[in-house]
Amino acid sequence: MLRCSTGSQKLDALLAGGIETQPMTELIGEYGVGKTQICLKLCVMAQLPRDQGGLEGNSLFIDTEGTLSPERVYRIAAAMGLDPQQMLNNVIIARAYNSDHQSFLIDGLFKVCPEENVKLVVVDSMISHFRGEYVGRESLAERQQKLNQCLHKLLRLAEIYNIAVVVTNQVQANPAQGFGDPNRPAGGHVLAHACTHRVYIRKAKGGTRLATVIDSPSIPESKEYFVITEKGIEDAPSAD
Ligand SMILES: Nc1ncnc2c1ncn2[C@@H]1O[C@H](COP(=O)(O)OP(=O)(O)OP(=O)(O)O)[C@@H](O)[C@H]1O
Ligand SMILES: [Mg+2]
Repeated sequence: MLRCSTGSQKLDALLAGGIETQPMTELIGEYGVGKTQICLKLCVMAQLPRDQGGLEGNSLFIDTEGTLSPERVYRIAAAMGLDPQQMLNNVIIARAYNSDHQSFLIDGLFKVCPEENVKLVVVDSMISHFRGEYVGRESLAERQQKLNQCLHKLLRLAEIYNIAVVVTNQVQANPAQGFGDPNRPAGGHVLAHACTHRVYIRKAKGGTRLATVIDSPSIPESKEYFVITEKGIEDAPSAD
């Protein structure tokens, strides 16, 4: 297995060396915490040589919310001193218009990824279409079944081609929670089981972001701070 650096040494350390190929990584958090920013940074990082934390491959981004900004990829690469146009050219961008289309695009990855030497696949967000289309308790089982099918295809893809797969997820309010953080990851057990590495991101003081690995069998629960910058994401400046 290989590991792709996030560009933040602290976040890499939290992930025991970066985003792993084969097992899936999930970025969880409320709007504006930086899930998409991390994904865009990874799209650049994945292209770097291995000794610089990359996967020496191209990146593929499935955008479900229409929030992907190619200019942001360009600016991140430029701020890192890389050739921004070349970096952007090596990011394949696909817009998924609904959950069926998302599933169709994931099927297509089995052809595109080996042909285009894709080593990083991002689905941002994995859950939004499913949540939007299957509303109400009576459609929950069907939703989870369809979501599960998509996730298992991604897992198989990652294993066959040794690809890093990163999906983003939202949080939902848990009315049963009396104290502490009232939010929990959306997607239920299906998403929780499919994703080996789950990173919960929260806004913290001074515009920093706090990342926590949750539910990991191999990584003890620990926390690190990062910041969103022109270069994508970086370590938060230390407090002293
Ligand atoms: N160049 C930049 N420098 C610093 N911060 C930036 C830059 N570009 C974007 N940001 C910050 O990134 C944040 C948005 O992050 P992002 O879009 O990744 O959130 P998200 O978790 O994907 O949210 P959503 O759930 O709505 O998709 C904003 O707070 C914005 O200020
Ligand atoms: Mg986003």
